[in-house]
Amino acid sequence: MTTIIYSFTGTGNTLAVARQLGDALGDTTIIPITRVTGNGPLPHDAEPADAIGIAFPVYYMDMPRIVVEFVHRLRLNGNPYIFGIATCGGSPGGPSFISTHSSKRRGPASPLALR
Ligand SMILES: Cc1cc2nc3c(=O)[nH]c(=O)nc-3n(C[C@H](O)[C@H](O)[C@H](O)COP(=O)(O)O)c2cc1C
Repeated sequence: MTTIIYSFTGTGNTLAVARQLGDALGDTTIIPITRVTGNGPLPHDAEPADAIGIAFPVYYMDMPRIVVEFVHRLRLNGNPYIFGIATCGGSPGGPSFISTHSSKRRGPASPLALR
């Protein structure tokens, strides 16, 4: 099973968690969201993979804006399993950031809903 984790990190916690999960899963590629957004305009066409993760730190009980923009404008290939990884300092806020943010744009049947 191939996995891609798109990761945003400020101080390194989220990247460390993404790496640990990638090591456990095997066949995982970690792509910094800043590299994608810095390389050109969104939307970004996701690399083909069986599973796609979005890893981010909780900022103000929500997703960082850069991650919200990225999720909104990520175009998926096929129907990969989607999951989220959130690190926080103890106050995570709502449990379904990705579902909430994606459904605003894509409707309740969003392929980016957190499962
Ligand atoms: C601007 C900012 C806002 C944050 N807001 C929250 C928050 O609302 N709840 C929380 O539990 N932690 C919050 N944190 C802590 C981070 O989510 C936590 O330290 C996270 O593990 C940092 O991940 P990183 O090392 O990948 O940047 C905040 C940190 C920053 C810098």
